[in-house]
Amino acid sequence: MDKPKVVLGVSGGIAAYKACELLRRLTESGHDVRVVPTGSALHFVGAATWSALSGHPVRTEVWSDVHEVPHVRIGQEADLVVVAPATADLLARAAHGLADDLLTNTLLTARCPVVFAPAMHTEMWEHPATRENVATLRRRGAVVIEPAVGRLTGVDTGKGRLPDPAEIFETCRRVLARGVAAPDLAGRHVVVSAGGTREPLDPVRFLGNRSSGKQGYALARTAAARGARVTLIAANTGLPDPAGVDVVRVGTAVQLREAVLKAVPEADAVVMAAAVADFRPAAYAAGKIKKKDGQEPEPIVLVRNPDILAEISADRAREGQVVVGFAAETDDVLANGRAKLQRKGCDLLVVNEVGERRTFGSEENEAVVLGADGSETPVPHGPKEALAETVWDLVASRLA
Ligand code: CTP
Repeated sequence: MDKPKVVLGVSGGIAAYKACELLRRLTESGHDVRVVPTGSALHFVGAATWSALSGHPVRTEVWSDVHEVPHVRIGQEADLVVVAPATADLLARAAHGLADDLLTNTLLTARCPVVFAPAMHTEMWEHPATRENVATLRRRGAVVIEPAVGRLTGVDTGKGRLPDPAEIFETCRRVLARGVAAPDLAGRHVVVSAGGTREPLDPVRFLGNRSSGKQGYALARTAAARGARVTLIAANTGLPDPAGVDVVRVGTAVQLREAVLKAVPEADAVVMAAAVADFRPAAYAAGKIKKKDGQEPEPIVLVRNPDILAEISADRAREGQVVVGFAAETDDVLANGRAKLQRKGCDLLVVNEVGERRTFGSEENEAVVLGADGSETPVPHGPKEALAETVWDLVASRLA
């Protein structure tokens, strides 16, 4: 089989050097990559580097090798175009359909999925001109990844950093795997909770659970690759932020509830993948609990935490909002799952069979997705991303 053809567009920002890492990941994973830098990108990383890393000649203008008609061919032949970094200027030119260099020509001739990974100063990202250009590109079906928050050029920090190349690569992989030009969650806002809550007993101890957050992160990453704006509410995970996702970090169930309730009014769909503690210690000791010789330890008294899934299902923040829950069952998986779906009042419930063989933290999962409409969608054993894709398929069909 031919290698998938990827065009890596690079525009003129300091983050251009990070695109070398993205290029390396793409080539090493079996993609045939043509790098198309803008003239200004070459101020940051030279043509020799792109050419050596990609194994292809590198041009910026439409005037070299004209007989090969590169301004049309490169775009036509591509299976994916990814622009990283995409500067404010490049986004503006792309949004307005300008064709003043090889990269913008390529963007006009490509009929494959297009991913933009913007990087710029916060002021530029937040400028109404850039906001409108991004909205235009998204409306037309491009995936525009949200920039990360962090250190920018010079002393500044804020939103505008190029997401981690490994995460941009993941987005590209997902977009390529789906192979459709128009992302079906474009224009949608989804909220995903992930990880496991921790309920503190004292400043050093907590009651927690084994959730790694991997399933929730896979849901966030795949939704972003399908064009959604994603808010990921992460409880105690040690995972890197997925590209293009707004991450809100929380600790306890009460904090998770607060973050979810804040995010749901704008959400088209909410997926509660987090393992939320059903109980928390009734009392929190401000100082460390000490053992006392000759004395039995005090029992830990627990109180119920609010059931967030039941609450947002019963009191929908928006008409037509789709709410998805998760359930872990050991016995009578389907019967228990059906009862739980009814009790919680959500639209979909992803039921996992848990047991000794199936460990938390694994890269794989197997589940049945139950629908309030009586549907049952089995998802065979496989990567957590495959389950995530099925969940979004079911969500997308309910949003449509
Ligand atoms: N959930 C929640 N708030 C809670 C507890 C759970 O929103 N206080 C959500 C979880 O995010 C998940 C689903 O509800 O989507 C899991 O429901 P739960 O009743 O906790 O089911 P199990 O974890 O399967 O546990 P059990 O049936 O043993 O209570």
